[in-house]
Amino acid sequence: MDISKIRLDSPVCANYAYFDTAAASAATQKNIDAVTEYLQRTAEAGLYLPSFRKETYARIEQVREQAAAFINAKPEEIAFIKNATEGLCFIAQGMAWQPGDEVIIPDFENLSNLVPWLRLEQTRGIKVIKVPAQDSGKVAVADIEAVITERTRLISFSHLPNATGAIQDAKAICAMARKHGVQTLICAAQSLGMIPTDVREIDCDYLAACGRKALRAIEGTGILYVRQSLIGSLEPCLVGWWNSSFDFKTQQLSLAETARRFEAGCPNVPAILSLGEAVAYAQELGIEAIFERVRALGNFALERLQRLPGFELYGPQDAAGRIGIIPFNIKGVNAQALVRKMEERNIIIEAGHFMAHTIMNRYQITEMLRLSLHYFNSEQEIEDAIAVIRDTMQLQEK
Ligand SMILES: Cc1ncc(COP(=O)(O)O)c(C=O)c1O
Repeated sequence: MDISKIRLDSPVCANYAYFDTAAASAATQKNIDAVTEYLQRTAEAGLYLPSFRKETYARIEQVREQAAAFINAKPEEIAFIKNATEGLCFIAQGMAWQPGDEVIIPDFENLSNLVPWLRLEQTRGIKVIKVPAQDSGKVAVADIEAVITERTRLISFSHLPNATGAIQDAKAICAMARKHGVQTLICAAQSLGMIPTDVREIDCDYLAACGRKALRAIEGTGILYVRQSLIGSLEPCLVGWWNSSFDFKTQQLSLAETARRFEAGCPNVPAILSLGEAVAYAQELGIEAIFERVRALGNFALERLQRLPGFELYGPQDAAGRIGIIPFNIKGVNAQALVRKMEERNIIIEAGHFMAHTIMNRYQITEMLRLSLHYFNSEQEIEDAIAVIRDTMQLQEK
């Protein structure tokens, strides 16, 4: 991996040590150029010049093919969405629930993989069953299996929880679910673009991801994967000209039979083009190489952080169980003050509860710092961040 070239491709690296990919990353210049070039053309010619529109629609379908290939799905199984939450909601609202049906989620989920199910408890009488993760940060397959009943319809879980960074055994969870005839939905908001993801190998039924984090697309981008055989079983929340046809003579209404079923109205073309560029960039670098690079940076950062007195790590204690996200506190150091200090030195990290209150309760904390890495970060940037922590600790001791 040519890190110097990657950093040159990424304007953020010239300005900041950026450690907040888990919230949203920064796009490459080429990505932004593709978006602005399209917008410029729309300024000059409008959107609907026939040849330009035809070209635009063809590019959308190319991106669909690219996104599908990236996760080993078929293009027909990919819908463009604006964020991971939307994808999770399309599945939650699309399934034909009966009162008493059950959905299982781990206890580390943030609001986006909790509220859609709690809402279904209120509106359709389903039951949400929460399974506590182990101390390693992983939810055990056996613990999920133990709560499956004949009413269980779905297991919905994050591949990479945002508050712990603990990689989940997606394949094993899906294999167990399949054995019981239970469907699986993976929230890949944090993992897509960081963890190699093959939906055929994992054998999940649905996967929802945003593009703005590890993939480095612009905000308002995402993909939803729906296993082809299940597309027709889901009721689309949004319908209109883009995803249906209506025969006025016969009054026959038909919905798209592909995952386009979940897209309605004029597509968000700039976002989709950005997603295409982002997938192409990740493919160029190689997803395995990305994973290895982030893993190596994570090991480096952890090793250095663990030398700090009062360092408290949350989630998996072993480097092998995690990727990208390092949640921590330093005894006696105010997290928000440290974030501000870092910003003064052009280092961006985040502190907060990350919408994962069960995890905060488990560690008996109300907020944590989160250093979140991506392949474009450097060892020097990590050293610089740690130097700021040391300075802050010394100041507080005085
Ligand atoms: C694990 C996880 N799931 C879901 C979300 C929500 O993603 P989005 O804002 O794209 O809907 C996030 C965002 O931080 C996340 O980290």
